[in-house]
Amino acid sequence: MRFTMAIGNVTECAIGRWNLIGNVTEAVHCRKLPAAFFQGAVFAVSQRQPAEIGDTIENIDTPALIVDLDAFEHNLDKMAAIAAAAGVRLRPHAKTHKSPTIAHMQIRRGAVGVCCQKVSEAEVMVLNGVADVLVSNQIVGARKLRRLAALARRARIGVCVDNAANVADLGAAATEAGVKLDVLIEVNVMQARCGVAPGSATAELAAVIGRTAGLHFRGLHAYHGKAQHYAGFAERAAAIAEAVEQIRDTLGLIRAQGQDCEIVTGSGTGTFEFEAASGVFNELQVGSYVFMDASYGRILDRGGAPIDVFEQSLFVLATIMSLPAENRMVCDAGLKALSVDSGLPLVVDNEGVEYLAASDEHGSLRLDRTNRSFSLGDKLRLIPGHCDPTVNLYDWFVCVRRGRVEEIWPISARGMLV
Ligand SMILES: Cc1ncc(COP(=O)(O)O)c(C=O)c1O
Repeated sequence: MRFTMAIGNVTECAIGRWNLIGNVTEAVHCRKLPAAFFQGAVFAVSQRQPAEIGDTIENIDTPALIVDLDAFEHNLDKMAAIAAAAGVRLRPHAKTHKSPTIAHMQIRRGAVGVCCQKVSEAEVMVLNGVADVLVSNQIVGARKLRRLAALARRARIGVCVDNAANVADLGAAATEAGVKLDVLIEVNVMQARCGVAPGSATAELAAVIGRTAGLHFRGLHAYHGKAQHYAGFAERAAAIAEAVEQIRDTLGLIRAQGQDCEIVTGSGTGTFEFEAASGVFNELQVGSYVFMDASYGRILDRGGAPIDVFEQSLFVLATIMSLPAENRMVCDAGLKALSVDSGLPLVVDNEGVEYLAASDEHGSLRLDRTNRSFSLGDKLRLIPGHCDPTVNLYDWFVCVRRGRVEEIWPISARGMLV
């Protein structure tokens, strides 16, 4: 039997995903390649590419993740300009796109590096040439700490902590690997997830980090995740104002004990303008702005209108697969194609068509208020409720401009959980 193998993107091939055409295991293919090819590489069998360059949208296999390149590039440019004008560093969160290709586009526009949430995400970024990664999360466990420290031989690596025992473990791993790790304290600014209380508890942990070999105390991480999705502008502004005051006081304590605090990082797509203007935060770790989603479509600007700084650039393309009743139809994008944790997807350009319910492989749609007649095979564009976990369901971004597929990018860090 003969099989063909195609590499999605040469720049990401060392760490990217294989597009296997043929029903064989990855291992069979891999043994045919020289051993040198595998050094430091992570391989996974991918979903089949849903399109070819030059295809029209109608020819894309579904469900597929579509990026509207005009809107996407607008979003990248816009956030880069906002950060530059505010005089703050931009370190976008790669948990949103999980793509070194996109990380490099952000870095070319001035970003200092990216944030990741997992060691394996960071590995994908670093092995694809990203030179500065902050893991904005706690990393616990000897194996993960060894992997994190090993990455610091190839790139500048930062990590967040909220516990003195974890600081000791990080220091030991860094010393064993012969590297220095940047360490930021995660401060709980009412996010009520991880994090040390602001004030003296944070200052005490900073002193512990300062005394630990192998570690460099770099600053504070203060992400207020809940505030990102408060619909009201004033509500979001008030939440961040309170966080800013807590961080300002904490910085005073840290500096009074003779420690420098170079970075105060935080923010997301819902609140970045407040952090950027605070005079306390000097780094933005926004993620969703590159794509946007239905949930962010519900937050309001100062005047009470939906925010329009960024454009919706991410869509799930679905196909109508059944027309069981006059007012009901079914598409091929259900729970395995869309994350619904922040609500159901919105249907684009078809007023009156509502996505009613998702089951594993089916999306049920109601047609009550439309007189458009649909046929089997018709395509629908859906705006996902939540972009990050939706991206994590796909291996490929199908990038479209003026109705044609212009590029196809692998989502190389998809599924990177450990
Ligand atoms: C720690 C952290 N920083 C930044 C972000 C980016 O936020 P957003 O995607 O809302 O821009 C997230 C998203 O969940 C996050 O968890």
